[in-house]
Amino acid sequence: MNKKISLLLALCASFLLGAQAHAQKFDELGKTPQMGWNSWNTFACEINEQMIRDMADTMVKTGMKDAGYNYINIDDCWHGTRDKNGFIQADKTHFPSGIKALADYVHSKGLKIGIYSDAGSKTCGGRPGSRGHEYQDAITYASWGIDYVKYDWCDTKDINPKAAYTTMRDAIKSAGRPMLFSICEWGDNKPWEWATDIGHSWRTTGDIDPCWNCEHSHGSWSSWGVLRILDKQEGLRKYAGPGHWNDMDMMEVGNGMSEAEDRSHFSLWAIMTSPLITGNDLRSMSDTTRKILTNKEMIAINQDPLGIQALKWIDDGDVEIFIKPMDKGDYAVLFLNRSDNEKTYVHDWAFNEMKDDISKHQIDFSKESFNFRNVWTGATGDTKAKLNLSIPAHDVVVLRLTPKK
Ligand code: GLA
Repeated sequence: MNKKISLLLALCASFLLGAQAHAQKFDELGKTPQMGWNSWNTFACEINEQMIRDMADTMVKTGMKDAGYNYINIDDCWHGTRDKNGFIQADKTHFPSGIKALADYVHSKGLKIGIYSDAGSKTCGGRPGSRGHEYQDAITYASWGIDYVKYDWCDTKDINPKAAYTTMRDAIKSAGRPMLFSICEWGDNKPWEWATDIGHSWRTTGDIDPCWNCEHSHGSWSSWGVLRILDKQEGLRKYAGPGHWNDMDMMEVGNGMSEAEDRSHFSLWAIMTSPLITGNDLRSMSDTTRKILTNKEMIAINQDPLGIQALKWIDDGDVEIFIKPMDKGDYAVLFLNRSDNEKTYVHDWAFNEMKDDISKHQIDFSKESFNFRNVWTGATGDTKAKLNLSIPAHDVVVLRLTPKK
């Protein structure tokens, strides 16, 4: 074999091995729900590089990074135009230093950076989408040092969703850098049925709004409050697991709801194993908001390695009880008061067996007993005694149960 041919073969082999290694790393991402911050809920298209840098600084300063948040995600409207060869460039007015410099800065803080694109020709904000440029865009993102791609569904007309998301998944896998792939298709085409091996998470609904139980109509689409999104998760828990999560949308904690509503919103997203992506202005958040978002015991429930989404165990009208089987025989139990009034509620563990047909966990509380700790107050107790609760309107009580030795 002449030298040139063997060099070429060696190059091909190392390229293939490299591509295989990256594809493998892609499969290792999102083993627990991703955690981070995203610009959309508060800033929409009003974004710029200084603000993204400030957000990275604040993530570290406020203890959010220590609590587990690690992605700083730029949503829609960072885009400028494509160059003459079709490569996407950042908007030069708001991102004059370019995305690579911004990614370097975010990485220097020990954080990761995410970017946004769309499967159609235009993003929802009217910027260039990735249709027809998928491989080119994925390579560009990799060269900038991007770690996360949120991929939206505007302007897609008659595109086949599974094919569109698979094309981008393959482009990302071959781009030479592990990037988490967040599908944002609003649940229109039931991505939970086909996206397990395509994305690390998929949005299950249209956009969230900072309200408890509202629906806002925008003509052809609606946006939803906390309870509306929660109720739309019915039947989806069997599809979630390590590497593929039901995404209940970026959070609205700190964006105008009451403290009880914020606490419930965060606790519900956590117990439902949704990605925990904050959507408030971290720079000006109150101490109350920071304490909710950095509750390490609540986060540990979300990040439990078994990755089992909570089940609605008991539906008592205004009060609903969710339970999540966890590692080492632990359980998280959440009591939700949906109503506008304070509720007193007595829960007799011994009379309520728990049987999860999906994860196959089962507890007979009359035979097994657990110690518990209230994740929000630190109060402790055990499941031998009846539980007497008084839950304020729109609030939750969350307990972590640990088997008695
Ligand atoms: C859609 C998505 C939102 C956000 C906007 C950006 O509405 O669902 O999360 O990304 O587009 O334009």
